[in-house]
Amino acid sequence: MTRTLDPRDLPLWHDARSFLDVRSNDVHTLVAYGLARALCAEHPQADPAVVLPAILLHDVGWKTVDPALLSKAVGPNATHPELVRVHEVEGVKIARDILERHRPAGIDTAQVLAIIDTHDTVKTATSLNDAMVKDADKCWRFTPHGVATIAAWFAEGQAETLDMLEDFVMPSMLTDAGRAMARGFIVAARAQMEAGDYLKGTHNV
Ligand SMILES: [Fe+2]
Ligand SMILES: [Fe+2]
Repeated sequence: MTRTLDPRDLPLWHDARSFLDVRSNDVHTLVAYGLARALCAEHPQADPAVVLPAILLHDVGWKTVDPALLSKAVGPNATHPELVRVHEVEGVKIARDILERHRPAGIDTAQVLAIIDTHDTVKTATSLNDAMVKDADKCWRFTPHGVATIAAWFAEGQAETLDMLEDFVMPSMLTDAGRAMARGFIVAARAQMEAGDYLKGTHNV
């Protein structure tokens, strides 16, 4: 069995943890890391030594944002969307500190930091590694943890959250593999939600 984190990245995780205890970012990071690893398995040209440290450290900057404003930074009714850029800029500083402390062998620090710097505010990818990180980050939203977390942020139900993700997030996925994973999470969640009705024979159509 392969555990979620590559042993090479455990010292980075150890240092990142104290920056990830807001907004469920710790579990978000672990799930997104696993998804990034799965995406890299589908894309042999991607470099896991860039993609995995980048996804591990991409959201450390949220720790610097006032907790009272976190929920106002994202979503259709965000009143502080500028904080998305703040978490990227501050995240680069924190990630640089962590990477310089450990200097992990074989990791291209400049490329990792460049990916973190634009992971949310730039929707297109400048490289395959960048696309892996962006799609893993987005694909988390479709997972059980992502759907539950987002539904709670916006006080919506699971079904409405899945519809919103399908309509507004799915079209922005950058890779076929990322889209396929996201679609897989959606159909599995819907089937599980509808199973009771089908089993009882109370479904409408
Ligand atoms: Fe982010
Ligand atoms: Fe993220």
